[in-house]
Amino acid sequence: MCNAGSPCSAVITGAGAYVPEKVMTNEEWSKLVDTNDEWITTRTGIKTRYFAPEGVYTSHLAINAGRQAIEDAGVNPEDIDLLIVATICPDRPLPSTACFVQHGLGLTNAACFDLVAACSGFVYALDTAKQYILAGSAKRVLVIGAETMSRIIDWQDRSSCVLFGDGAGAVVVERVDEPGKGILSSKIGANGGLSELLRIETGGTAEPLTHDNLDERRQYVKMEGNVVFKHAVRNMSEIATKAVEAAGLTLEDIDWLVPHQANTRIIDAVGRQLGIDASKVVVNIQKFGNTTAASIPLALKEAVTDGRIKKGDNVLIVAFGAGLTWGSSVFRWEK
Ligand code: ACO
Repeated sequence: MCNAGSPCSAVITGAGAYVPEKVMTNEEWSKLVDTNDEWITTRTGIKTRYFAPEGVYTSHLAINAGRQAIEDAGVNPEDIDLLIVATICPDRPLPSTACFVQHGLGLTNAACFDLVAACSGFVYALDTAKQYILAGSAKRVLVIGAETMSRIIDWQDRSSCVLFGDGAGAVVVERVDEPGKGILSSKIGANGGLSELLRIETGGTAEPLTHDNLDERRQYVKMEGNVVFKHAVRNMSEIATKAVEAAGLTLEDIDWLVPHQANTRIIDAVGRQLGIDASKVVVNIQKFGNTTAASIPLALKEAVTDGRIKKGDNVLIVAFGAGLTWGSSVFRWEK
């Protein structure tokens, strides 16, 4: 046990990201549903998103991002002892998508499981990885957020279909035998009493698929967007403040805020409430839309690759999603 007499830290040592090649523009959506570029841009900030072509699904995206993260960490697939795939778009109901990814990446020594926390999935999975490492139960964890949202949105529902995109992001989290490094804090929360605000009604044991409910299009994501919006701003600001406190830092110490990319208006409001200048906020929703559990690692990888996030920077991530769920973490970028 590294937290009993032999202190250690959980450190992000590699990152990867992948989006499929097929771009879907606002103009293309406006030919399919009653919407337009102006509405989507001003209400959400989204200009394009990427959709997986036929035959490409969540495990493919996850494998591409995961491979990049493993290479970036400079480790071998056999060195990974735990794989967590955060997704609400599993390849199949059974087995877990993580099993397909474990096989595809050759993670022969890794246990694996899926984690379902919607847009908070990556933050939940990072927290889980940290707990495994601090408990001494894992040394090297591959955390992936991967989604093929294009398959679970209702292509006839303009209030939600324009928001989402497909993609995957991944990090390797490693045990380092030194305290105070890497992930400094993580906080997660939920309110299952608000589960109806963002849901898929059929396809589970409560309501198995039938011809009737398929005809009613109830197998797709439904969202009470404007109600979710208010909860998102409040909960993201609160949990981020708690994560910063738990890290022993103040908001002035934060070099970069990497928020879940659901809506630029949500991102702006959270930044304002936290008093973090817009120049320190990583935003790429205009390109990718809301990629659910993939959005934070996609944005993180982008900001690391283009040199914005540098060694020694304090990074604050915060997410909010269906459940309702939310979470936040502070880590020092050590690469
Ligand atoms: N094009 C044109 N008009 C539209 C569209 C569209 N694509 N979608 C909705 N409208 C219309 C509505 O019909 C409504 O018209 P009305 O006033 O005539 O009734 C009007 O626009 C306003 O609709 P609202 O839903 O109130 O719009 P809002 O400003 O709230 O924006 C949005 C909607 C973008 C969904 C926003 O509420 C939002 O971002 N919510 C939060 C999403 C989120 O954070 N989700 C959590 C993560 S997702 C996950 O976990 C899977």
